[in-house]
Amino acid sequence: MDTTTTAMTTSGLEGVVVAETRLSEVDGERGRLVVAGHDIERLALIARFEDVVALLATGTLPDAAGREATRRALAAGRVAAFERLKGCGDALGLVDGMDSLRASTAHLSEAAGFAAPGVLIGAVAVHVAAWARVQAGGEPVAPDPTLSHAADYLRMLGLGSDAARVAGLDAYLATVADHGLNASTFAARVVTSTGSDLVSAVVAAIGALKGPLHGGAPGPVLDMLDAVGSPADAVAWIDGELAAGRRIMGMGHRIYRVRDPRAAVLERAIAGLERAGLSTGRLALARAVERAAEGALRLKHPGRPLAANVEFYTAVLLDTLGIDRAAFAPTFAVGRVAGWCAHVAEQRAGGRLIRPASRYVGPARAPLY
Ligand code: COA
Repeated sequence: MDTTTTAMTTSGLEGVVVAETRLSEVDGERGRLVVAGHDIERLALIARFEDVVALLATGTLPDAAGREATRRALAAGRVAAFERLKGCGDALGLVDGMDSLRASTAHLSEAAGFAAPGVLIGAVAVHVAAWARVQAGGEPVAPDPTLSHAADYLRMLGLGSDAARVAGLDAYLATVADHGLNASTFAARVVTSTGSDLVSAVVAAIGALKGPLHGGAPGPVLDMLDAVGSPADAVAWIDGELAAGRRIMGMGHRIYRVRDPRAAVLERAIAGLERAGLSTGRLALARAVERAAEGALRLKHPGRPLAANVEFYTAVLLDTLGIDRAAFAPTFAVGRVAGWCAHVAEQRAGGRLIRPASRYVGPARAPLY
């Protein structure tokens, strides 16, 4: 029997389990994210990005020597990628940061030494920072291999890398590093399942992350906050958007039926930046818009809880750090590439070719004459 013509169609693959993973668990009903055994709320408090990279790679949080070894691996990746920047052609001139990141990363290859996760993770940060500098009319800034990944990313962007900003970015990168079988991670695993290489998997994942239903929402979230203007106008603005049939960016999630736990982690990180004197004044506005959106969406979709997702407060956090909104989605990739690399390793170690079926609904076979 041909199963492609009889199986039920599961559009969007909701609830379909296609892999076993030890990397992260997303509990959509209770709003929990556990990364290799660690609740994200606590992990983001105690871990630097390097720690999460090591945790995903080995299954345990590193000691001081392990953290330093990971820091060095990422730093070596940044240096190697910077040395190859000139070979990226006009990738850095592309206006869209995700187009640029996809093109500059596609230029790498295993043959040129970009086969190890640390090298790829380092390269993504360099590509995004170099693109941002070129778009701002400047020159790419060479990496400093003595720094942590978060500190050097801020420095290569031309931003302040004081302790408060670095802690804020570390919290962000740690929070977004992995999240179950999201669309970009799935794309990376599908490519890997064919026996393809790490660079190809990461390039595919970048393409998936670009979409506004996945990683492309934070820029539009900031646009929304600008358009709302003041907390007093939040309810009217949200009502107008929903009446016009538009989606509220940063709200809703495929898995979560409660508020995304990462929203709270990032909200707390923004509050920390505010305490350090780095306020854009947008946190209060964001909270008012979130309340208005949650209330209006509850009325519009009483059977479908729609609450803030990670991207809502990503917008405010990255803006507070001074990162331009055009670089929000690429900065998501700077963190998520850690998860992509870990999933590639896991897929290689135990996965099979991922090859689902489709149900044919085209015209009936033409009669033979
Ligand atoms: N604003 C307004 N309505 C929304 C909404 C939002 N942010 N998210 C979902 N809905 C509505 C849909 O229009 C749909 O309504 P309908 O049944 O009347 O057609 C219903 O809720 C179910 O949505 P659906 O598209 O089936 O949910 P999904 O699981 O496929 O989508 C998202 C999840 C994330 C794609 C979706 O919530 C969304 O588009 N959010 C905004 C973009 C965003 O923030 N992306 C980042 C995700 S981390």
